[in-house]
Amino acid sequence: MLVSAKEMMQKAAAGHYAVGQFNINNLEWTKAILLTAEECKSPVILGVSEGAGKYMCGFETVAAMVKAMDKSLGITVPVALHLDHGTYDGCYKCIKAGFTSIMFDGSSLAFEDNLNKTTELVHVAEQLGLSLEAEVGSIGGEEDGVVGMGECADPKECKTIADLGVTMLAAGIGNIHGVYPENWPGLSFETLEAIKAAVGDMPLVLHGGTGIPDEQVKKAIDMGVAKVNVNTECQLVFRDATRAYVEAGKDQQGKGFDPRKLLAPGFEAIKVKVKEKMELFGSVGKA
Ligand code: 13P
Repeated sequence: MLVSAKEMMQKAAAGHYAVGQFNINNLEWTKAILLTAEECKSPVILGVSEGAGKYMCGFETVAAMVKAMDKSLGITVPVALHLDHGTYDGCYKCIKAGFTSIMFDGSSLAFEDNLNKTTELVHVAEQLGLSLEAEVGSIGGEEDGVVGMGECADPKECKTIADLGVTMLAAGIGNIHGVYPENWPGLSFETLEAIKAAVGDMPLVLHGGTGIPDEQVKKAIDMGVAKVNVNTECQLVFRDATRAYVEAGKDQQGKGFDPRKLLAPGFEAIKVKVKEKMELFGSVGKA
């Protein structure tokens, strides 16, 4: 059932659990995540980055695929189709394509500019019944070989953006996209505490869910995180399962080269990983 993320976010924040956002890259990813959400009776958010959208032939193709798959698989749990780290133009493209949720990432802009554009998009999303995620304080990660340690957002700026009426807020607390470097100091719970105190009931979003120790994820959820984003971890398990299949020579046996066979271990590995995360986030049985 395709819906905005509004209700699932409010329920998660009130119930002290988190809904997982799992990024999709193709049909196998989408099918694996939707089926697992249904099996776990968990709400779910399908994240689409602008790059992945382009790879899948544009946002309209993605929306058509997700809507049709949701229907043909008979998915009954709430599913939000969400733009991940959208640009201003990307948000409007996804709205037009039929996404049910958008993230406007104005964190690289001057704060005034982020504020103005987020304000405009809050009104547009409200009129159309879509959910909107905003971001304050950029999230670190690898860029051109330089690995950032993850910035911490300013609680005052968080409050200003939260007060606009966004559905959920991504705020840096030392989290990073991709695999964490060995010397990563961990999440900054002092920052999370200060942000939570400033924004009240606003559901918070933890990006960079890959590789954060489970105990830290649980603590962050206890402290107000209601959405956790996972992307790289599904890619890694897909890679490992596909590699094992090929290294065992299974692609050389019989019809092992058939893409439906070749991609099956990776597909199953994504299902296992998504289930594990839904259990960790506490969203199982919450649909
Ligand atoms: P990871 O790739 O680190 O899991 O981060 C995902 C994410 O935050 C998408 O916005």
